[in-house]
Amino acid sequence: MKDTRSLLYIAMMATVLIVLGFIPGIPLGFIPVPIILQNLGVMLAGVLLGGKKGSLSILLLYLLALFIPAFSGNTLLPVLAGPTAGYVISWVFVPLLVDFGLKRFNKPSLLLQFVVIFLAGVIFVDFIGAAWLASYTHISLAKSLLSNLIFIPGDTIKAVIATIISYKFAGSLNVKNKI
Ligand code: BTN
Repeated sequence: MKDTRSLLYIAMMATVLIVLGFIPGIPLGFIPVPIILQNLGVMLAGVLLGGKKGSLSILLLYLLALFIPAFSGNTLLPVLAGPTAGYVISWVFVPLLVDFGLKRFNKPSLLLQFVVIFLAGVIFVDFIGAAWLASYTHISLAKSLLSNLIFIPGDTIKAVIATIISYKFAGSLNVKNKI
């Protein structure tokens, strides 16, 4: 029963991630990386499902994306061979990092939860994404990091939304404890 419920939550989260991936990204002229909503789902996977199940939902996303164009209209393999692979690969670690960070504290305040989500879901992802982008496009890491600053305001808002959703729903769903 517990296993069935775990699988159900993992499948539901992977579905949310795919639906968010169908929402077209906003292309930016100066960098081959769009502004997207899907990374909000990645942050939510961590706060709602916890580390292991959250990361499993991302792995399921990867698996399904071999066949479904779940990354702004692309399937997984072209994405892994393209400029955005660093972001997408880093996503699988986000739930584990969020969980690891939150477990350091007994009862983390809302602000502390935000900081953990921000560090894992924004700073970590954007850094790995920028490092990959630098090597893919043969620009310096500094230049790539500078270009990635464009994502920080939007990604920070997503981290705020993930914090609020986790505060409002994680308690009542109690997903992490049930599975
Ligand atoms: C893809 O669909 O190929 C993945 C796009 C990755 C976009 C990254 S995720 C972090 C940063 N925030 C955004 O809104 N876009 C970039």
